[in-house]
Amino acid sequence: MIFSIRNFNLGDLDEVLEIEKLSFPKDAYTKSLFKEFYKFFSEGFFVAEIKGKIVGYIFGYIYRDEGEIVSISVHPDYRGLGIGNKLMETFISLLKNKGGKRCFLQVRVSNITAIEFYKKLGFKILKREKRYYLDEDAYLMKKDL
Ligand SMILES: CC(C)(COP(=O)(O)OP(=O)(O)OC[C@H]1O[C@@H](n2cnc3c(N)ncnc32)[C@H](O)[C@@H]1OP(=O)(O)O)[C@@H](O)C(=O)NCCC(=O)NCCS
Repeated sequence: MIFSIRNFNLGDLDEVLEIEKLSFPKDAYTKSLFKEFYKFFSEGFFVAEIKGKIVGYIFGYIYRDEGEIVSISVHPDYRGLGIGNKLMETFISLLKNKGGKRCFLQVRVSNITAIEFYKKLGFKILKREKRYYLDEDAYLMKKDL
């Protein structure tokens, strides 16, 4: 399936929220938080699109020579097609172009799909962070660029 990646704009917000709710039914980020993300570091907010429909997004930010992936998700009907990969590559190449040396992220210890996905992209588990989420520990993962 042909998809494209472009920068997020505020007109995409409702579609991004829909994907967010489908992906994280218990603890979806809110509309106002996504607006804050956009205000904070719009350059690091990308969406994937198929024929004008938003099917995934990534938000990350860059500070000095480090990047942090805050959130990524792909619509359940469009997973396994390489869209998540491309979203990650897009953020990581932005990070590299800005002189980034490392990229970090946190993931729920139970989210095996995401952990495998990140490992395939070269991320390694650094440590387990107790109760990073209200109800669960996280792995802190890192990739050297
Ligand atoms: C994690 C997520 C973003 C991956 O997106 P995706 O578009 O389905 O991933 P891709 O198709 O690009 O997959 C890339 C690689 O990741 C791995 N992967 C993806 N889904 C996997 C699964 N269900 N089980 C094991 N490995 C998987 C595979 O190695 C895959 O490569 P391959 O297709 O060559 O085997 C998607 O599953 C998702 O939105 N999950 C819910 C939200 C979430 O958990 N986000 C992360 C929070 S920290």
